[in-house]
Amino acid sequence: MTFELHKGTNIEVLRRMTPNSVDSVVTDGPYGLSREPDMAEVLRHWLAGDDYDHKASGFMGKGWDSFVPGPAVWREVFRVLKPGGHVFAFSGTRTYDMAVLAMRLAGFEIRDQFAWVYGSGMPKSLDIGKAIDKAAGAEREVVGQRDRYLDGRERQNLGDKNQVYGKGLTANGVADVTAPATAEAATWDGWGTAVKPAWEPIVLARKPFPGTVAANVLKHGTGGLNIDACRIPVDPIADAAQLRTMNRSARDGSDGWGMNSTGADAPQVVRAEGRWPANLLHDGSDGVLAHFPTEAGAVTPVRGTEPSAASVGLITGEYARVPGAFHADAGSAARFFYCAKASTAEREAGLDGLSVQLVGRGCAAAAAAAAAGKTDSHGKGGFNRVQQRRNIHPTVKPIAVGRWLQRMITPPGGTTLDIYVGSGSFGASAILEGFNFIGIDIDDDGEGNPLGYLDIARARCEWAEGEVIRERQRREQELREAAARAAQAGLFEEAV
Ligand SMILES: C[S@@+](CC[C@H](N)C(=O)[O-])C[C@H]1O[C@@H](n2cnc3c(N)ncnc32)[C@H](O)[C@@H]1O
Repeated sequence: MTFELHKGTNIEVLRRMTPNSVDSVVTDGPYGLSREPDMAEVLRHWLAGDDYDHKASGFMGKGWDSFVPGPAVWREVFRVLKPGGHVFAFSGTRTYDMAVLAMRLAGFEIRDQFAWVYGSGMPKSLDIGKAIDKAAGAEREVVGQRDRYLDGRERQNLGDKNQVYGKGLTANGVADVTAPATAEAATWDGWGTAVKPAWEPIVLARKPFPGTVAANVLKHGTGGLNIDACRIPVDPIADAAQLRTMNRSARDGSDGWGMNSTGADAPQVVRAEGRWPANLLHDGSDGVLAHFPTEAGAVTPVRGTEPSAASVGLITGEYARVPGAFHADAGSAARFFYCAKASTAEREAGLDGLSVQLVGRGCAAAAAAAAAGKTDSHGKGGFNRVQQRRNIHPTVKPIAVGRWLQRMITPPGGTTLDIYVGSGSFGASAILEGFNFIGIDIDDDGEGNPLGYLDIARARCEWAEGEVIRERQRREQELREAAARAAQAGLFEEAV
């Protein structure tokens, strides 16, 4: 297993790569959450085969995040991907349509949309009442204080001594509450412009291929999804009702998993080794788990002859009942892939050799304050927690999500590509999964200076290589100990 990291724009690096050489792509490109483009102009460029250059800044002021990847870069990805090769590409809820259209225009077939659901999103909403007062030049009276972290963000690391706190936010996370100063502001008090982000779409696309999936898999190793390797472990508590049904079927002499009467090709949705993977991932946070049912769902196959649930009114008899596979949707959030957002420890693992930097909004002001020996800074923006980090990338994805997605679409020992590698989360995940990895990042601050992303990515990939070696050594040690125990037991038996 090897990894290579390339500095440069992805389109240029991709142009130098061999056609049909990559098995899969898992990537997390720009979400393009900047000002709305003129869509007609975007389409004019895209349909003429040109790139569209959007002049705006994206997430946390990053120029590279201003617009979604266009068809030109996806055409290059299409070229290097083997026929039948899949792409998982993260995108924003607001710009998913454009992100996916660009892939379609490049020739990709859209296979599915996955949802990554999490509880830690932060609403970026304009307080309309405050904006009215500000426009009127009216001073608002401070009438109390409140905990800012309860605005939609879980309280985290408040005791972290490495943090410097910005204007409007004290070390205990308390902010001023102000009252409307004008009648108009009072009318619009409580109105905003955005809800809290709680999920991100991930498109699953595939490069079309001639012939059948079976023939393509045999020829190129691509075209299918590794369902069994991505099954969701059955949870003995959350899935108790499901397991009871499975055991009953086993006693009845059926296949044991409730799949006895649904036809030879019906998928085994639940097996002892896990549930069929679904197109939903979640972070396991309390807020997200609260939205999942804990009761059992459909626990037997639908034969199509069952009476409708309604016995009066228009919907009666067998209307709209069609035979279907065993739903196996009992249980809770445990039926979906779970992965917490990347922890600080995970982001920083392997980075001991890199220097510490300040990250977050208002870091320049915080750096000045820290240099002057102050623990509170008054940078611009009202919510600017500044932290000392080695991994300074603003959008680090969890390694476990990368592992699951790469495992699903990459043949064993295959090569997976990330055309927006950032801090290398998907490089580390590929190495831990035993895949070869190619990563590309522009790593540029917009003025020709490297931001250090590729240094971080390299250190994290090397850390992952070390983890693989450490894990192998641990297993070998276990085997040696087991062999020694067996030999000792053998000696003992001979002696008696
Ligand atoms: C959303 S971040 C990826 C973060 C990554 N998944 C991680 O976990 O660290 C996108 C990255 O794409 C890079 N980028 C943006 N435009 C690019 C381009 N045209 N070519 C190569 N890299 C680019 C940026 O420098 C940024 O690091």
